[in-house]
Amino acid sequence: MVTLPPLLLAEKYFKMHPDELDPIWGNPCDDPRHRKIWANNKTCDSLPQFLVIGPQKTGTTALYTFLTMHPTISSNKPSPETFEEVQFFNGKNYYRGLDWYMRFFMPENTSIDQRNVSVNVEESVKKPILFEKSATYFDNELVPRRAHALLPKSKIVTILISPSKRAYSWYQHMRAHNDPVALNYTFYEVLTASSTSPRNLRDLRNRCLNPGRYAQHLERWVSYFSPQQLLILDGDELRNDPVSIMYRLQQFLQIDPVFDYSSRLRYDKTKGFYCQVISQNKNKCLGRNKGRNYPPMDAKSAKYLQVYYTSHNGLLLKLLKRLDQKMPMWLKEEYGQAS
Ligand code: A3P
Repeated sequence: MVTLPPLLLAEKYFKMHPDELDPIWGNPCDDPRHRKIWANNKTCDSLPQFLVIGPQKTGTTALYTFLTMHPTISSNKPSPETFEEVQFFNGKNYYRGLDWYMRFFMPENTSIDQRNVSVNVEESVKKPILFEKSATYFDNELVPRRAHALLPKSKIVTILISPSKRAYSWYQHMRAHNDPVALNYTFYEVLTASSTSPRNLRDLRNRCLNPGRYAQHLERWVSYFSPQQLLILDGDELRNDPVSIMYRLQQFLQIDPVFDYSSRLRYDKTKGFYCQVISQNKNKCLGRNKGRNYPPMDAKSAKYLQVYYTSHNGLLLKLLKRLDQKMPMWLKEEYGQAS
């Protein structure tokens, strides 16, 4: 038998199987062969049990914040690069590997190499339910496959608002971040950018419009995860009645006893949103960048978006029925008006 030194052998292998060049991290704890060769000092308790996948601008920060108030739910530690979001399954972080990801879910002062210490700590305290929220996961083509390979049993939570409102909120978000394209073009100009428009204008159009093709993205998720693993929340309900949403989410996550949010969340008149109750007269609301003040959408853009999203909303309606998920009011209204 002829063989080669390891590096040359690897080069030869990947020349023969170029489709395998991109790694897919499986869950070492689910595969006895991996478990066998995995270092003894590694733990299976440092991976999330559920993911909040976005999309962006649907209320993901509010949901994240409410979840972190829960006594038995813990999020990842914040990432210094992406603020609170880890953004592992999309982009370059995926190539940093499993140890990098799992560090975000280790108890404080514990590293992968100190597993024996962490086991003792964990034994004395009830293990929290771990989750990660990265709002960019929802519409990324690679994420469902990667998330399923690593976390096949995890639950997936997504929030949907009217895709038109989402698109406008994203445009306003970019303006607030002084994005020159968003500052120089009206919303209608962004929406109607064509193949002859400048590249950066087309890019902004895509980022406003594409995540809102909800059914197309959700189909990718349901091709990997079963309908029972998926919860689709209505962002309007999260905004107007977060207590009920948090109750439904806990039922979905099978959390017992259910944590009652009714005395922990309160509508704040100044902010115009629900906020965390701190004391009798004091609330803690999300920052100024969440729940921004901006003028209402112009009629021309609203009409454009209504037409643009009609077929996508129709597909979403069918998909939600198929998945036996609750139908958001905004979808019934928007699709009813358009069809
Ligand atoms: P706007 O700022 O456009 O109003 P995300 O956190 O996914 O980026 O979503 C931001 C959106 O969350 C905000 O968009 C706001 O409408 C919505 N939201 C829902 N509940 C909220 C809350 N309790 N506080 C602030 N914003 C909330």
